[in-house]
Amino acid sequence: MQIRVIREEDLKHIYLIEERCFGKEAYPRPLLFWLYHLHRDEFFVAEVKGKVVGYAVGAVMKGRGHIISIAVDPEHQRKGIGTRLLTALMEQLEKRKVKGFRLEVKVDNEAARRFYEKHGFKQVGFVEGYYRDGTGAVIYEKSSKPKSSPA
Ligand SMILES: CC(C)(COP(=O)(O)OP(=O)(O)OC[C@H]1O[C@@H](n2cnc3c(N)ncnc32)[C@H](O)[C@@H]1OP(=O)(O)O)[C@@H](O)C(=O)NCCC(=O)NCCS
Repeated sequence: MQIRVIREEDLKHIYLIEERCFGKEAYPRPLLFWLYHLHRDEFFVAEVKGKVVGYAVGAVMKGRGHIISIAVDPEHQRKGIGTRLLTALMEQLEKRKVKGFRLEVKVDNEAARRFYEKHGFKQVGFVEGYYRDGTGAVIYEKSSKPKSSPA
């Protein structure tokens, strides 16, 4: 498995992963295209045998690394790919000196919540009716790695 920065031709595969993971709530193609244009340095894909099987995209917002979205094709979940994508994304955001990380996740998305909690994210808030279907969002945050100070 390989993690690399996105290329434009990956977008069609990412859209299919979105549909498989989120169904009707998949990010529309224009939104993925927009994310690619604005945040391609913080947009990673996972490839297995030359096939794109997952992606993670983030951005720096108000000095904090925001995890915008992460998804792994259902056939490839629970193999550590999400972890590799999240790690690559956070390392990239840390290069931009973020003071920590933040994300929102649907309150009923148990898999994603367990995933982020396993990676040290702590629940810091809840926004009722955050998503279009009326579901609330749990807000998670995590500090960035302390910088090693000179001896
Ligand atoms: C969340 C998601 C990206 C995780 O990707 P993944 O490649 O399956 O994650 P990993 O294999 O790296 O899992 C790491 C750990 O997270 C936790 N975890 C992941 N999926 C889980 C699940 N379905 N149930 C419970 N815990 C889970 C486990 O602790 C797991 O470690 P383990 O397998 O040793 O028990 C994946 O489930 C996914 O794409 N979901 C659909 C899209 C989505 O909801 N994205 C998040 C919204 S932004």
